[in-house]
Amino acid sequence: MKLTKMTVALCASVALPMAAHATELEVTHWWTSGGEAAAVAELAKAFDASGDKWIDGAIAGGGGTARPIMISRITGGDPMGATQFNHGQQAQELVEAGLMLDLTDVAEANNWKEVIYPPSLLDSCTLDGKIYCAPVNIHSPEWLWLSNKVYEDLGIPVPTNWNEFVATAPQVDAAGKIPLALGNQPWQSNLAFGALVIGIGGLDLWKKVNIDKDMEAAAGPEMAAVFTAAADARKLAAKSTVQDWNQATNLVITDEAAGQIMGDWAQGEFQVAGEVAGKDYTCLPGLGLNEYISTGGDAFYFPKLDDPEKEAAQKRLAALLVSPEVQVAFNLKKGSLPIRGDVDLAAANDCMKKGLEILKGGNIVPSGDQVWSADVQKQNEDLMVEFWKSDMDPVAAQAQWVENLKSGL
Ligand code: BGC
Repeated sequence: MKLTKMTVALCASVALPMAAHATELEVTHWWTSGGEAAAVAELAKAFDASGDKWIDGAIAGGGGTARPIMISRITGGDPMGATQFNHGQQAQELVEAGLMLDLTDVAEANNWKEVIYPPSLLDSCTLDGKIYCAPVNIHSPEWLWLSNKVYEDLGIPVPTNWNEFVATAPQVDAAGKIPLALGNQPWQSNLAFGALVIGIGGLDLWKKVNIDKDMEAAAGPEMAAVFTAAADARKLAAKSTVQDWNQATNLVITDEAAGQIMGDWAQGEFQVAGEVAGKDYTCLPGLGLNEYISTGGDAFYFPKLDDPEKEAAQKRLAALLVSPEVQVAFNLKKGSLPIRGDVDLAAANDCMKKGLEILKGGNIVPSGDQVWSADVQKQNEDLMVEFWKSDMDPVAAQAQWVENLKSGL
């Protein structure tokens, strides 16, 4: 066909000048599950298509394993071309130490201040008025994912919120299924607890503790009720012995478990498994109790490389990650929401649409990583894994939790 020839000619003429500046960049991240790999492949594809070369530096074992490796490479003189961190303060010390590339010119040339929503995402990238990261998505952790089949087989309606979920757990258990899937990595326990704070404790309590840093509220009776609920919830997860979050999601996908509290990145796994939102599985933002989402997620930082050619490629990649085309392709696979409102996500599934509605309605709060230091977050992860995986007294856990928070004030 004539058109094909023309297209080929056009591509060749466009591709040639770009190849002249083809530069390899190693990009590190912790996206190793099926859904995550499919999503990151979109970023690599776009970067390669623009004439540069993405060298994939996936690190297995989740963010808790990957981040110390990334940080020690950057501080130890072996920096990569770009690296993932969560929105918030995880890279703060690296930025303060002058180890990260200033992207302010890229941000200005591409109107990041005008297009990126919510502004807190760019605020998290900003230090002393300069911008040091490119946000790529919004991921909210406080979702309950349910296997519809588990409930269909029991002849009971799929729960519409956390309380109904807990009420049906004895029947699920009696049928030989795991009521709540929960992996063993510390961050997963901390995530589940955070979701219960918003779901059960409610938004006012969440804000008092996390924004106002009101330590009386943190030590008070409303928060004690959340700890009691978490102590009840851990019994539902007693038979869940898997390690990684996606193995836990897989228990829901294969109808071995009724539910999982997990971030909306779980959608990527359901998608790869060919499951359909609403038909095969149900998603309940804010655990179906308080439809709020927190605006966590991922951003890319670009360590200084002292190499003008690489630096130019780093800036090209930063601009590309925020571009509308990449935002659509990546987020549809990742199950996350785009960081700009001016892109068309008509192809989003029902769960993503729920997230988009909540975002549009402004029912959002910052993520734990945005309001607490990496150190406090780590202490709470360690506490929460101990709490969820043992019979630790909820009163003692609350007292320790308050101490952890206080260490960050
Ligand atoms: C990241 C997600 C990722 C999840 C599980 C989170 O910290 O924001 O992008 O899918 O970890 O690996």
